[in-house]
Amino acid sequence: MAQLKLRALNKTYNPQVVPLKDLSLDVQDGEFLTLLGPSGCGKSTTLRLIAGLEQPTRGEIWIGDRNVTEQAPGDRNIAMVFQSYALYPHMTVYDNIASGLKLRRMPASEIRQRIEEVNRFLGLDGLLKRKPGQLSGGQRQRVALARALVRRPDVFLLDEPLSNLDALLREQVRAELKQIFSDQNAPIVYVTHDQTEAMTLSTRVAVLNDGYLQQLDSPKRIYTRPANRFVAGFIGSPQMNLLPLKCDQNCAMLGRYPIPLPDRIRLPEVILGIRPEHVRLARPGETSTLQGQVMLVENLGMSDLLSVQVEGTSIGLRALLSPDQSWGEKNISLVLPAESLHWFDPQTGDRLP
Ligand SMILES: Nc1ncnc2c1ncn2[C@@H]1O[C@H](COP(=O)(O)OP(=O)(O)O)[C@@H](O)[C@H]1O
Ligand SMILES: [Mg+2]
Repeated sequence: MAQLKLRALNKTYNPQVVPLKDLSLDVQDGEFLTLLGPSGCGKSTTLRLIAGLEQPTRGEIWIGDRNVTEQAPGDRNIAMVFQSYALYPHMTVYDNIASGLKLRRMPASEIRQRIEEVNRFLGLDGLLKRKPGQLSGGQRQRVALARALVRRPDVFLLDEPLSNLDALLREQVRAELKQIFSDQNAPIVYVTHDQTEAMTLSTRVAVLNDGYLQQLDSPKRIYTRPANRFVAGFIGSPQMNLLPLKCDQNCAMLGRYPIPLPDRIRLPEVILGIRPEHVRLARPGETSTLQGQVMLVENLGMSDLLSVQVEGTSIGLRALLSPDQSWGEKNISLVLPAESLHWFDPQTGDRLP
């Protein structure tokens, strides 16, 4: 099996649109790497370049020790699963799954054996003789996956494979995907704009914005140590509070509430980041707490999302509290724990140490 390497990949369609800029990354065998970013950031472009459906303007693509940059798609031994499933409507499920293998002139007996094998963990029994039109969305998705898996490709590419499924089914198939791909011994590149999918499925996540790689890290690091303001705001729901604050000597000032800056940060202004789930209610008798007024409470079921206006400012702060906590009527005392704070440079957006 083979590692996938992207080297300074660039794709320019025309001078106004530059969807991909100098993307370099390695994906190991069996690694599940997710490209995550907002719509239009260059995710599908990256997959199409890897698959060979488009040529890069600059850069190289390697699979193991093969430079495949100039190779035709059919020579790369890559399997791709699309959002639209791309099944042949006139063929049975069996023939759909077998289609890629038949093209490669694999003997019928071996095709049958491979299909039986994926059938065992995909549960397609009873569906093999049907046509795609007689399947539900989730079943079609499984057929598209089966077609990729029987190929035993050197690289798997999946472009938003769950986005046509309803929420409940998406959750179920997501868990199945994780199981299926945990057994695969090839690099897996998965594209999504859904951070929950990225966080739950991936070994590592590559966050893209405007064609630039923002951060490449484990899901945990992406959440706990976002590399810049973009990643901080993109990952996490509800979104991280990102507050532009003026500094006074060793503190950032949130209204009248001074927040000590880490030793190495000495700027006239900073952006303070704190996730709503890390803001907590002050305990009785606790001093130096943040005062504010509750402007809005949104009931999210397992928690309440409060929008709080910080006293003496027009700054809004969102806090996620469990519904069993009581905070009185309108006035609220909050604490921003030092260990949960993130600091960003307002000029560059980069994380400050
Ligand atoms: N064939 C094309 N010609 C011109 N622009 C394109 C083409 N394909 C994609 N783009 C542009 O490139 C950018 C990235 O697109 P894409 O990779 O599809 O984004 P996404 O991250 O949503 O998958 C978008 O601005 C898109 O409009
Ligand atoms: Mg796309």
